[in-house]
Amino acid sequence: MAEALPPRPPVSGWAGLAVVTGAASGIGEAIARRLHAAGADVALLDRDGDGVRRVAEELGALALVADVADRDALETAIASATERLGPLRHLVNNAGVGNLKRLSDYSERDVDLIWRVNVSGVFWGLQAAARSMPEGGSVLNVASVSGLRPTRGEAPYSAAKAAVVALTQAAALELAPRVRVNCISPGFIRTPLNEVLAADDSTRSTIETATPMDRLGTSDDVAALAEFLLSDEASYLTGQNVVLDGGSMLTSAQMDPVLGPLLDRFG
Ligand code: NAI
Repeated sequence: MAEALPPRPPVSGWAGLAVVTGAASGIGEAIARRLHAAGADVALLDRDGDGVRRVAEELGALALVADVADRDALETAIASATERLGPLRHLVNNAGVGNLKRLSDYSERDVDLIWRVNVSGVFWGLQAAARSMPEGGSVLNVASVSGLRPTRGEAPYSAAKAAVVALTQAAALELAPRVRVNCISPGFIRTPLNEVLAADDSTRSTIETATPMDRLGTSDDVAALAEFLLSDEASYLTGQNVVLDGGSMLTSAQMDPVLGPLLDRFG
């Protein structure tokens, strides 16, 4: 006879405030839409006021205009959302910026921007969660496969995203068991950030060929995973970095192109 399953932790659903940063576009917008559909009281935060108001109005949700790299502005925006919608229960630190240049060509301004948005922005978000998130809260950070397998031309971005994974682990240790902190490292996800690459047939085909799942990722691929990681279904999962890349990190740059054709010929 099958053993009785242990009782599951109480599932309290999506009641409460969920703040998503970088929610005016791409991945952040898709996550905000999913959490809203799931029943959370979503506050969409972005530095792009017109963009974030457009999405928030469509959802009937709250729009917050702030730069995540500005600690006071982020704190004030989150405080104004908690005043209206109650304690911060879910936070998605998604806002990020990248650049593509040779290491020798990056200006101090370029590096400072990448660092302040991608690293300090996540740090200030984690700090807000550490200070005010109640028992059962959860945070999700968005890093990148670039942080795990750095690419030429993205040195500051890769370093910043590696820092996001480290911040996730440090915060998960400090905030457990009250709050869970996890991370997603997406591969190539088609969004306005990289539309110029995705829209080019030859570039898109190169990326598809290097992706075992044979397609580009979508914002909704990320949003579906985000919903799970933030939910009570993932209540035993903390400090993890989940790679969502259609399998592209599996490809061995040295050996797969050598062994793969042999397998096709003789296998
Ligand atoms: P996106 O450019 O479409 O959206 C980013 C949003 O963040 C924009 O609405 C922008 O206004 C906002 N934002 C930027 N800086 C901000 C700041 N200082 N304060 C507040 N809002 C700010 O980009 P996408 O593709 O949706 O990227 C979202 C996250 O996913 C970023 O952290 C990015 O690094 C990461 N990512 C994206 C990948 C992709 O292939 N699209 C791959 C790996 C990671």
